[in-house]
Amino acid sequence: MMTTVAADAATPRPVIDLHCHLLPGIDDGPADVDGALALARAHASAGVEVAACTPHVSWEHPNRAPGIAQGVDALRRRLADADVPLRIVTGGEVALTLVAELADDELTGLHLGGGPWLLLEPPLGIPVPHLEGFVADIQERGHRVLVAHPERCVSFHQDPGLLGRLVAQGALAQATVGSVTGAFGRPPQRLVGGWIRDGLVHVMASDAHDVRRRPPGLAEPLRRAGQPDALIDWWCRDVPRAILDGAEPPERPSVPPSTRRRWWRRAGRGASGATPTSGADPASVVRPQRGAG
Ligand SMILES: [Fe+2]
Repeated sequence: MMTTVAADAATPRPVIDLHCHLLPGIDDGPADVDGALALARAHASAGVEVAACTPHVSWEHPNRAPGIAQGVDALRRRLADADVPLRIVTGGEVALTLVAELADDELTGLHLGGGPWLLLEPPLGIPVPHLEGFVADIQERGHRVLVAHPERCVSFHQDPGLLGRLVAQGALAQATVGSVTGAFGRPPQRLVGGWIRDGLVHVMASDAHDVRRRPPGLAEPLRRAGQPDALIDWWCRDVPRAILDGAEPPERPSVPPSTRRRWWRRAGRGASGATPTSGADPASVVRPQRGAG
């Protein structure tokens, strides 16, 4: 379980990254310990105080909770030996397509930081009919669901009301910082922008895999993208801390409308030069980005 994260108004406040591929040699993250240490140092340099190790738990990467726990213990020792100021906790990015095959004890072992929340990855490129029914089944088994980067998943592009229905049934949403900055292209950026406006994003995470192609970074890239500090703190510190602690997420801070308008203008200039309206319908989003989650 987590302890309280210290905040200092005079320095950048530490953040918590609930989705990253830090463990070496078990998925598409770093290949070896040196790569993991480099990635951990990059996390720390980006202001990350705590990182949940969330390797893929999927048909392609058949990781399981005991192996992940052992990997976290081993990396924790290496971080201490190397004086890397990053705390790591267990977790997993659990593929929706595999969940039915995993026992509840296994799923519990994959919860983020030993709390009640499971990071669930819907398929990126394959639409899932009645996805909310699958999520409800998981919830009925006793697991709370944090949906991993829905803005990168085709089901959410095809069904603009899906995320709202999942949130209404108790799920939370984790968006990837790169989606906000445009690293995955315009469609995920537009979709996540609408969800930010509608209050449907609860956590921002890096989904970092390495120090170059998909690097760490939470607060600073979000700040550069024009996101307000109050929301950044909520996405990257307050809600993640509650998730790890098993507490109810704190209420979302209110954001002045002028701040949101400024963000839309900046985001609109970013990729295409066309400024979206604040009422942009996610149904207009096409060609979702594909690639490893
Ligand atoms: Fe991931």
